[in-house]
Parts: sequence; C-alpha cells; structure tokens
Amino acid sequence: MLPSKPLSLAVIIAAAGSGKRLPGSVPKQWRLLGGIPLLAHSFRFFDAFPGVQQFAIALDAQTLAMSERTGFLVSAHGVNVRLVEGGGERQESVWKALETLDPAPDIVLIHDAARPFPPVDGVQLAIEMAVREGGAILARPVTETIKRVNGNGLIIETLDRSVLRAAQTPQVFQYGALMRAYEKFVGQLAQFTDDAVIFEAAGGKVLVVNGSENNFKVTHPEDFERAENLLK
Ligand code: C5P
Repeated sequence: MLPSKPLSLAVIIAAAGSGKRLPGSVPKQWRLLGGIPLLAHSFRFFDAFPGVQQFAIALDAQTLAMSERTGFLVSAHGVNVRLVEGGGERQESVWKALETLDPAPDIVLIHDAARPFPPVDGVQLAIEMAVREGGAILARPVTETIKRVNGNGLIIETLDRSVLRAAQTPQVFQYGALMRAYEKFVGQLAQFTDDAVIFEAAGGKVLVVNGSENNFKVTHPEDFERAENLLK
C-alpha cells in the first residue's frame, strides 16, 4: 500500500539512444524542435507536472558533457535533476537512472526522450492506475492488421487487432516493485524492449490507459515535420 500523503514522483527520461534512423550529426534527442532540443520538450512537460520531485535523465557519454553546458535540463521549478550515463540498450539506460534516484519516490514514470507530447490526462490516469495496481502504461489501439511472419516473409498468423495495443511512454510503476523487478533481471536487461515487460516478467500487473495520437515517437525525418506542425 502507498501512503495517503501526496505522492512523490520521480521521472526517468531515456535519452541515451543514438537515433540512427534520423540522418545528421546531432543525435535526434538534441535536434531542435520549435527552437529547443527534442529532449527539452518532455523535460519541460514533466518539470511542470504536479508532484514531480526528481529527474534522472540517461544520456550517452558524448552528450552528457554537452548537456551540462547547455542549461536545457535545468528545472524551472526546483526539481532535482541528475544526468546519468546510459547503457548499450534502453533498459540498461533506465536501470542506471533508476539506481540514482534518491530519496526513494512512491511512483516512477519512465519516458522516452523521443516522445515530445505526452498527454496530461493520460499521464494522470496512469499514475492513479499504478497506485492501485502496481503498473500502468499509455498505449494506443492498433489500427492496422498485424501479421506474424517467418524468416522468409511468409505469413504464419493474422492477429486479432481488437486485443492488441501499441505501447507508448510514460510507463508508470510503484517504485519499490519496479526496483525488485529490475534487480531480478539485471544482467538480462538487453533482451527486454520496454519497462512493462520486465515488471510483467517479475509477476507484476500492468494496466494500459489510453495514450494519444500526438504522443508518437519521433523516429524518422517525417516525424520531425509532424512534430513541427503540431507546435504551429
Ligand atoms: O531506439 P528507440 O527509439 O526505441 O529508443 C527509445 C528511447 O530510448 C529513446 O528516447 C532513446 O534515446 C532511449 N535509449 C536509451 N538508451 C539506449 C537506447 C535507447 O536511453 N541505449
């Protein structure tokens, strides 16, 4: 059970990826979107979010030094911000960031730097669900029919899309339970592709709450254009 006092929230931003699918010399999380780095959009969103008391932001070694200079990751609300060198895979970066949280929060929200527009109502609901059930993630219904194929591209199975959801972030968890889940799989983290699956593998319950179309992951050059248009 979590305390009835106001919840303390910690936010982890995974921003240590190389962003190889976007051309250019600057890693995508540092490319400018509306005049500030992509990463600064989600940072500012959570910096202003009620109850957030600390950040741990995972960056690659190269941009870690740069970000200390740029000042884009300084809280406007007195929130404690720690910059951490990430790992080779997303889950390793998240684990390194999780280990630095101090004091222990009630709830931790893990977000991809590449998603600049998380929805306030969805995030609020995910926090409420995580308090109740252990974990909750934002996700979207799948609109395309999904096929399972073999190595030769032959369709093996057509999945029932009414029961499929595309996972987004933030992914939100009770901190103590998430730490136990990560500790259980330390050394094997590279095999997991999001935080929820680690929590599930450790026996935790994770609900999905409705994310938003605008909470897309900036991956390809056309996603940057879409994000720029949304800001206009
Ligand atoms: O590669 P992908 O877009 O799926 O990465 C999702 C998020 O995880 C990005 O924000 C990226 O910066 C982050 N990441 C990370 N450490 C890695 C790889 C990815 O923090 N080693």
